[in-house]
Amino acid sequence: MPDDLIPVKPEIAAKALVNKDRYRAMTEAAAKDPEGFWRKEAERVAWIKPPSRIKNVDFTGDVTIRWFEDGVLNASVSCLDRHLASRGDQVAIIWEGDDPKSDAKVTYRDLHARVCRLANAMRRLGVTKGDRVCIYLPMIVEAAVAMLACARIGAIHSIVFGGFSPDSLASRIQDSECALLITADEGRRGGRSVPLKTNADEALRGCPSIRNVIVVKNTGGAVPMQEGRDHWYEAITAQEPAACEPEPMGAEDPLFILYTSGSTGKPKGVLHTTGGYMVWASYTHELVFDYHPGEIYWCTADVGWVTGHTYIVYGPLANGATTLMFEGVPNYPSVSRFWEVVDKHQVNIFYTAPTAIRALMRDGEAPVRKASRKSLRVLGSVGEPINPEAWLWYYRVVGEERCPIVDTWWQTETGGILISPLPGAVDQKPGSATLPLPGVFPAIVDGEGQVLEGATEGNLVLLDSWPGQMRTIYGDHARFGQTYFSTFKGMYFTGDGARRDADGYYWITGRVDDVINVSGHRMGTAEIESALVAHAKVAEAAVVGMPHDLKGQGIYCYVTLKTGEEPSEALRKELVAWVRKEIGPIASPDAIQWAPGLPKTRSGKIMRRILRKIAANETESLGDTSTLADPSVVEELVQNRVG
Ligand code: PRX
Repeated sequence: MPDDLIPVKPEIAAKALVNKDRYRAMTEAAAKDPEGFWRKEAERVAWIKPPSRIKNVDFTGDVTIRWFEDGVLNASVSCLDRHLASRGDQVAIIWEGDDPKSDAKVTYRDLHARVCRLANAMRRLGVTKGDRVCIYLPMIVEAAVAMLACARIGAIHSIVFGGFSPDSLASRIQDSECALLITADEGRRGGRSVPLKTNADEALRGCPSIRNVIVVKNTGGAVPMQEGRDHWYEAITAQEPAACEPEPMGAEDPLFILYTSGSTGKPKGVLHTTGGYMVWASYTHELVFDYHPGEIYWCTADVGWVTGHTYIVYGPLANGATTLMFEGVPNYPSVSRFWEVVDKHQVNIFYTAPTAIRALMRDGEAPVRKASRKSLRVLGSVGEPINPEAWLWYYRVVGEERCPIVDTWWQTETGGILISPLPGAVDQKPGSATLPLPGVFPAIVDGEGQVLEGATEGNLVLLDSWPGQMRTIYGDHARFGQTYFSTFKGMYFTGDGARRDADGYYWITGRVDDVINVSGHRMGTAEIESALVAHAKVAEAAVVGMPHDLKGQGIYCYVTLKTGEEPSEALRKELVAWVRKEIGPIASPDAIQWAPGLPKTRSGKIMRRILRKIAANETESLGDTSTLADPSVVEELVQNRVG
């Protein structure tokens, strides 16, 4: 599609950290001499002892992934201490509250002091290197402080998004046996409050590993405190010194765990380690956003997701950036909110999700045009495929054709961005994540794992490691090998499908496994199914994704009731509420279809291919149904499709 090629702008290229020549040189160097390339790039972080061994990777057998393994560092030092002399008084975090009247600015020096105080308090509570700490906080400065305080003392943080239910919180705490929970009285979003402490109390009934809870007073709402276990953040940190000796960490010591959904079973604890992750966070944040010192950078994600980890906290702070943290939502108090915040804080780089763009598109151009947006220089997209219409609207209306768009493809597992244009080096195509970053080696393989050349379509894999790659699934290394390295021998399988055009550009087509992407939130259909069948009236359930204008994908549930139970509107509502309670509001079903029977093969396997087609209203092309045990159930489902 040469017509759609949007060339790099000369004025961007002239000042970019990476232009076309440099991009070519880096790509060649990273391929020819990976050790030399990454030895040099590793200098971006502050080492207590620089690594002599660079890469030790084997994607076969037990799967070994180690980078910089004899290096010693502390992530919080790279994000804080080393900036104090040069930019101690520079703002590190701009906090913008849900309420437009509330905001705050925290300098690198303030942030360092706050991190040290909390780190000391945690040490005093007995938290030591290797302990797991669960963080269940809203988008407040304390969330970043808590992450960095864990890093300071070598504790492994595991953040659980505030939109997860008590059950989801409990299962994540239990899986990694967290010793401490850091939460808040309540969160605030779109003018409503989120009962975090109440949720936490409910979760903790089943979490004996938690010895202490630190509670941030955020809204001031009344919450019960349990004597001996619960401590107010303000009280416990107030007397602590503003200095704290950082724990020396091996490059391969864990930095954090983040739970994410897969196609089967319960969520997996994706484990990232310290050295490689920090190098990757810094490298990708600087290159992809073409970050220049002094710029104001805003990623609208929540720290509960990997995007918040790498591109609100670790990447920007490692690079000495000013990072904006936003507590609110795009449409509160009005649909101009994003652009008002851009003007208020003179944001230069803005990074959001396609679902937000699509939602704002519905309200037309006026709410955008009301704001100046002159400060904007680079726009980013993440989380799901961005449809060309949304891309072009983002480009024309939000960026006024002045700002390059970086459509960044990556995953919780990859730690940071792998495929994306660089603003000064890669021509863009609306809807394409374009080309791999230097040092990233994607390929497209067929069902048998044959690497396909040229313009083609198939399964997206990575042929070799990069420093930010996850190292294991917490507590289950066998599942790690099984999940990512057994489908195609010797390759990392992403779970995504992709097309590559004649220019070598990648177009991500979405998941090829039983994972669905709802508003950029990743969900396993198996998890929603097990929530549904846990309801007393449900015999069986099958969940698939359906196309959704705003969310990208919606959640479509086929439900078979137990004998004697009657479908009703009341029961439908009850099931929606049930799933929200079991998993969290982010897993709200969009459609529930009563299914007297499900299409199964004679061996009892549900044929999801057919269910996906019915949900998508593509009933003309159901394909071969002759292998079904009872083909008549399909006719019934087509007749009674919802929506
Ligand atoms: O399907 C891809 C989609 O999101 C998945 C990863 O989800 P998660 O681990 O939650 O991380 C989201 C933030 C990185 C991928 O397997 N995805 C992410 N970014 C893009 C994307 N699909 C298309 N284009 C993208 N830019």
